[in-house]
Amino acid sequence: MTFEPMGTTALVTGASSGLGVEFAHRLAERGADLVLVARREDRLEALATELRTSYGTVCTVIPLDLTGPDAVAMLVRKLTDADIRISTLVNNAGFGTHGFFAELAPERELAEIQLNVAALVALSRAFLPQLIEAGNGALVNVASTAAFQPIPRMAVYGATKAFVLSFTEALWYETKGTGLKVLALCPGPASTEFFDVAHNEDAVFGKFETAEQVIATAMKALDRRRSPASVISGRMNAVQAKGVGFAPRGLVLDIVGRGGAPKKR
Ligand SMILES: NC(=O)c1ccc[n+]([C@@H]2O[C@H](COP(=O)([O-])OP(=O)(O)OC[C@H]3O[C@@H](n4cnc5c(N)ncnc54)[C@H](OP(=O)(O)O)[C@@H]3O)[C@@H](O)[C@H]2O)c1
Repeated sequence: MTFEPMGTTALVTGASSGLGVEFAHRLAERGADLVLVARREDRLEALATELRTSYGTVCTVIPLDLTGPDAVAMLVRKLTDADIRISTLVNNAGFGTHGFFAELAPERELAEIQLNVAALVALSRAFLPQLIEAGNGALVNVASTAAFQPIPRMAVYGATKAFVLSFTEALWYETKGTGLKVLALCPGPASTEFFDVAHNEDAVFGKFETAEQVIATAMKALDRRRSPASVISGRMNAVQAKGVGFAPRGLVLDIVGRGGAPKKR
């Protein structure tokens, strides 16, 4: 195990559900204190109580809508005021939308970009200097296997995750030698609230993993002495995502386009 956050503080966004909850458990289990961020305060408080009881974790709950214009600045101010310095940042909060782009609510599409991309970039920029200074933590940005090809009927979602993958791999390179581990985590379909939020249970390629399986992949990657810039969770997901790189892009687009429902207007 080379990722040892014992005695440091980790901030997890989207900690009220799914992958974020599992991230929080695994980090707490390794002795990290936690800052939990999402909108649903009751869920965050319940998780904080569980983590305090199970692992003696010091938990700070910050209910926040990360799509708000001053959200990241407010979060930074709260942590500064509380004298909390972050060694690990998990940019996990995100959502998807499903349907023909021309028919989707424009404000929801923009909020998706705001959360999946803009807030992730703002948080990375705000905390990267302290993460580098700490030099013993990680920056984990949750991308997706959706990052590897365009996704008709999830056009904005696929594009946001392609951004996250590209951005994070670049940061991995920029921070080489600092001691900070930078990782883009690319899950395939996982059993969380994601598909309920996206109103899409049927446009799925591959088998569902559990949140436990996905986060185990992330922790295993972080435990490598030289942690990789990105990791795909699930062997078949990795085969598919890597295969995409060898196939003609038009063919891939056609296969993905025919894959999900609804197929016709
Ligand atoms: N599940 C999958 O199949 C899958 C596959 C690949 C990638 N991913 C990615 O994994 C990440 C976690 O998703 P999940 O699967 O765990 O889905 P989830 O169960 O729906 O969790 C999403 C989290 O994001 C938070 N969130 C949503 N909008 C927010 C906002 N405006 N401000 C702050 N927090 C917000 C939610 O909390 P509140 O509602 O309380 O704010 C929740 O904690 C996402 O980035 C997603 O794109 C998921």
